[in-house]
Amino acid sequence: MGALDGRVALITGAGRGIGRAEALLFAAEGASVVVNDPGVAADGSGGDDGVAAAVVAEITARGGSAVAGTDSVADWDGARRLVELAVETFGDLHVVVNNAAIERNAPLVAMTEAGFDDVLAVKAKGTFAVSHWAARHWRSRFEAGARADRAIVNTASGSGLLNPLPTQTSYAAGNAAVAAMTVVAALELRRYGVRVNCVSPSMVRTRLTAGVPGIQEPGTPGGFDPQDPATVAPLAAYLATAGCPLTGQVLSVRGGSVAVNHGWSRGARAEQDGPWDVAGLAGTLPGLPVDDPFDKLAQALGGAFGITDRDQVLRLVDDTLDRSLDEAHTRSHG
Ligand SMILES: NC(=O)c1ccc[n+]([C@@H]2O[C@H](COP(=O)([O-])OP(=O)(O)OC[C@H]3O[C@@H](n4cnc5c(N)ncnc54)[C@H](O)[C@@H]3O)[C@@H](O)[C@H]2O)c1
Repeated sequence: MGALDGRVALITGAGRGIGRAEALLFAAEGASVVVNDPGVAADGSGGDDGVAAAVVAEITARGGSAVAGTDSVADWDGARRLVELAVETFGDLHVVVNNAAIERNAPLVAMTEAGFDDVLAVKAKGTFAVSHWAARHWRSRFEAGARADRAIVNTASGSGLLNPLPTQTSYAAGNAAVAAMTVVAALELRRYGVRVNCVSPSMVRTRLTAGVPGIQEPGTPGGFDPQDPATVAPLAAYLATAGCPLTGQVLSVRGGSVAVNHGWSRGARAEQDGPWDVAGLAGTLPGLPVDDPFDKLAQALGGAFGITDRDQVLRLVDDTLDRSLDEAHTRSHG
């Protein structure tokens, strides 16, 4: 008996990294899987149909059930076709795992319009588009009298929720959007029997983190490797099980640690009887305790790079931006 026996799951970006590991585990747990991946490069360019096909071949070689879908989640009609592929191939759809992403990191002053739009198109619009078409299918099944547990599992990142990282304006915005959508969709889709949650991985060894300080080579085979993409898959699979009661949650996962996130929460407040004026705010707000973005980054780094004080964080941010601007300059001028 698998935890996902009889479930049909559509997993986006399932050709590589975390999505691939999710597809393999979902299939091993008995789900029929639509492996969606257009096989693009990490920046979204190009494409290779063989990437999704290879994961389907792995699953079927192990006796599982899977079909490849190579549409981009950022394509409105493509997202609809992916939902249709699940229903036409396997008879229904129970689970959507929105996992696809690309990155085009650059300092805000150098980020292009297309660089920003394309990252948001995959992360935020792609999550919305696939969820929209799945939700329409689920609504029509529900209205026809069918009752089943349905689930969406979104994917966010500490970059956007917890840790401000320089050069990630677009990526952070996309991930914050996904976390916000998770909670709204959980409210809206409950009436059709749909639960909506989100996983937020961190420091997983994939091509998106290649070269990130702290990412290590794979550990000894068989030993616990906290950066293995497979560490995220059990949480996604649990959230996809018919018996899971959770909805509207954004859960961080890193190695053996799973944590509930509380998102933005209100801090100190200034209150008076009546509206504020500018001078009143100027005299009051600077006295309230606030989160400093540089302190947040220092906390997120947790002592990495030997950073212990604020000056060092300021220097790290400046160095990162300078390096990134130099790289952008070299790319455009050869
Ligand atoms: N690796 C980490 O440490 C980490 C940390 C936080 C969050 N995440 C999130 O986890 C998810 C998976 O990332 P990963 O590290 O496995 O990356 P990855 O690049 O290894 O895999 C992402 C896959 O998505 C596919 N993809 C890209 N654009 C697509 C599109 N338009 N439609 C469908 N598929 C598309 C790519 O072809 C690729 O195979 C992402 O949402 C990422 O933001 C990863």
